Amino acid sequence: MNAGPATGLSTDQAPPLAIPLSFFFVAPVGLSIAGVFLLSFGALCFSSRFVPQAAILTHLATLGFIGPVMIGALYQMIPVVAGAPLPWIRLAHTVHLALLLGLISLLLALAGAWPAAHSVAALSLGSAFVGFLAPASWALTRRATAKTASVRGMQLAMLALATTIAIGLQMVWARGGGRFVLGDYNDWLIAHVSIGLFGWVGGLITAIAWQVIPVFYLTPHYPKRWPTIGLALIAAGIILPVIAATIGFEVRIAAAPTVLLIGVIKPLTTIALLRKRRRKRVDRSLYFWYAGLAAGPLTAATAALAAFCDDPRFPILMGWLALFGWAGAIVHGMLTRIVPFLIWFHRYAHLVGRQPVPSMRQLLPPRYVGVGLFSHLATTALGVAAILTGNSLLIGLAGAGLIATGLALASELLRPLLHRPAKT
Ligand code: HEM
Repeated sequence: MNAGPATGLSTDQAPPLAIPLSFFFVAPVGLSIAGVFLLSFGALCFSSRFVPQAAILTHLATLGFIGPVMIGALYQMIPVVAGAPLPWIRLAHTVHLALLLGLISLLLALAGAWPAAHSVAALSLGSAFVGFLAPASWALTRRATAKTASVRGMQLAMLALATTIAIGLQMVWARGGGRFVLGDYNDWLIAHVSIGLFGWVGGLITAIAWQVIPVFYLTPHYPKRWPTIGLALIAAGIILPVIAATIGFEVRIAAAPTVLLIGVIKPLTTIALLRKRRRKRVDRSLYFWYAGLAAGPLTAATAALAAFCDDPRFPILMGWLALFGWAGAIVHGMLTRIVPFLIWFHRYAHLVGRQPVPSMRQLLPPRYVGVGLFSHLATTALGVAAILTGNSLLIGLAGAGLIATGLALASELLRPLLHRPAKT
């Protein structure tokens, strides 16, 4: 059954609505808690990447905002885009609980607040990601009917996630007093960061963009050879840092080609395509894409500065731009398109022709997205100014901005969800 006005995606294999939505709803909570945390610990969070407050804020973003949205989206897209329904789909609810327990205990472990937190974090996060990655990779490798670049990209992004998680679990185990068996801790920390940000987050955004940018915004398709080059560099962004960390070679050099692709070439190519789009009517999710894509080269530039300059602000600035500026804006923008579509499909698609059904804009009026967009971009800019100046008022405003963005995102998810079909 062809569902929804514009996509042409066969969605009859889609999971129950509660599964992607339950993961999406973690994001506004994670964002708001990150805001409260920044307001509470202020300048400490931005003082150095070696203080626990910085690692805590980082994982509130990676495992409390971006990660859950991407996992929820994969539960939706693997059956719909790859035509591969996941086995044991109800396991997703257990994955959700284990992920939340794991995140809370990881934050307590990084804060050094509870001696047992390291092993609880390792066990619960380990179970959560095995519970997700096993059925998801089985579906993507064994059941996928579509052999597109996006499907291959999703497979690589999941390999990057598995690698990031394995290194993270080893690091949290070592911080809890266990043995670090991989080699040099700092080399593997850099591998964890580069594979997590540019392989998992960057790889999935790139793979999805190949599919959704031409479909959502009616742009020309990406240049023919693009996906092949892209897939090769995403794969290199996983393998080379692991080899470099294993043999003690400079991991940042090994990660550089992928940072260049994901942070510079792909964003600039996508911006060029968006400017050639046939659908001239602007919906505000487009501005999220433009903002996120524009933050890509800034992220890559600060990554280079962080690698070669001693200024402690650059690693923090890279993290902030990557998580809230680049990936955060794109993830936020995608939610404002995906959620109204999912609710339209599950609640109204079968009513078409039988009674009036709402449009996407009626499910999520543009003014809601406008508030989310303004708040997200203002907060990102405030954070950049706060990191560069260390000014406590700006840090406070950035914290308040994260809370406001969390609340705006919550309203962007709740508005379509609370919409009910008119009684006939
Ligand atoms: C099972 C999940 C994860 C665990 C257990 C974990 C654990 C850790 C640990 C222990 C550190 C080192 C903190 C230090 O010694 O300074 C760290 C740093 C970091 N992790 Fe993770 N991590 C996980 C997932 C992720 C993911 C998915 C991402 C990215 C998408 C990520 C991004 C980072 C970054 C950017 C840092 C550097 C933070 C800093 O230097 O302050 N982590 N992680």
